Amino acid sequence: MLSPSLPLLAVESSCDESAAAVFDKDGRLVSEHLYSQIGRHEAFGGVVPELASREHLKRLPDIVDHVLSESGIEPASVAVTRGPGLIGSLLIGVSYAKAFGFARAIPAYPVHHIRGHIAAVWLDHPEFKPPFLALIVSGGHTELIHCDENFSLSYRGRTIDDAAGEAFDKAARMLEAGYPGGPALENLASKVSETPPRLCAPVMPNSRDFSFSGLKTALKTKVDKMPALSDDDRCVLAASFQDAVIETLVRKSRAAIGSTGVPRFLLAGGVAANSAIRSALKKMAEETSVEFAVPRAHHCTDNAAMIGKAALTFPSEPLALTDSADPGLKL
Ligand code: KG4
Ligand code: ZN
Repeated sequence: MLSPSLPLLAVESSCDESAAAVFDKDGRLVSEHLYSQIGRHEAFGGVVPELASREHLKRLPDIVDHVLSESGIEPASVAVTRGPGLIGSLLIGVSYAKAFGFARAIPAYPVHHIRGHIAAVWLDHPEFKPPFLALIVSGGHTELIHCDENFSLSYRGRTIDDAAGEAFDKAARMLEAGYPGGPALENLASKVSETPPRLCAPVMPNSRDFSFSGLKTALKTKVDKMPALSDDDRCVLAASFQDAVIETLVRKSRAAIGSTGVPRFLLAGGVAANSAIRSALKKMAEETSVEFAVPRAHHCTDNAAMIGKAALTFPSEPLALTDSADPGLKL
């Protein structure tokens, strides 16, 4: 297993963000650039995989040119998200990185997207050391992962149905909150200052795993029973939904910290950009006397800097020319 040589170019294209970043010869992040496809998918209310792949194909070369010319650096290796993610989107990034490496005779390293979300912490908090427990909450994943002193990762709980971000996006659609759903729902919820009514009883309170589909159904049942939704109704329902998600994230994280006995807790992934979730988990960490870290919001949502940091932290074999993207890549 090898760590990539520096300087390093990193590429991310697993969903609807086309992104690149450059690390210099000392491993410092010196340039990062991202094109969000939000405007392209807005009319459809969700990411359209075929459109996402075509946008990556169109945008990635310019984004890479941008970070290379901004940094004035010629990379000695490339890192790229190999999976999990949308197959077409991953294929564009992996093919691009392999071609980039082949043309320059430099190696291309595969990165697991969730390892990227974990590694985002070292972009903003280099002092944060293992062992720790990480709660990764994104559009496709809700996972509690233990990282030991040797950076070896193991699952300590995960969703059995929807991911937290997916639940936010679906709830936002029910409440006609706007797109992208997560930030739009947070915005509605932020207008409510009182404690909102509880949406449903805690789901699977004694399991280490998560489930969000019951919560989604509870919201749908409530919305369906209301003849029309006023602006106030939408805000209160959004706040009830967000509170229920927070309650389950806090409960499972607290239990996993207790059973693993870790001294540190990390929150990461796109949903970790939510300020109510950030403060609730920070409070939980303080109450359980563990050190808490969360990357800056723009390093919580998908980005290429986290992919480069993961390649530099978690060693792997370089991609062979015959290796391809892997949407079901194991952690
Ligand atoms: O990590 P990410 O950028 O992409 C994936 O790997 O999935 O996460 C995207 C998810 C989306 O579901 C989005 O709605 C959610 O993160 N998200 C949020 C917020 N910002 C992004 N959810 C709740 N509140 C937010 N502020
Ligand atoms: Zn992600």
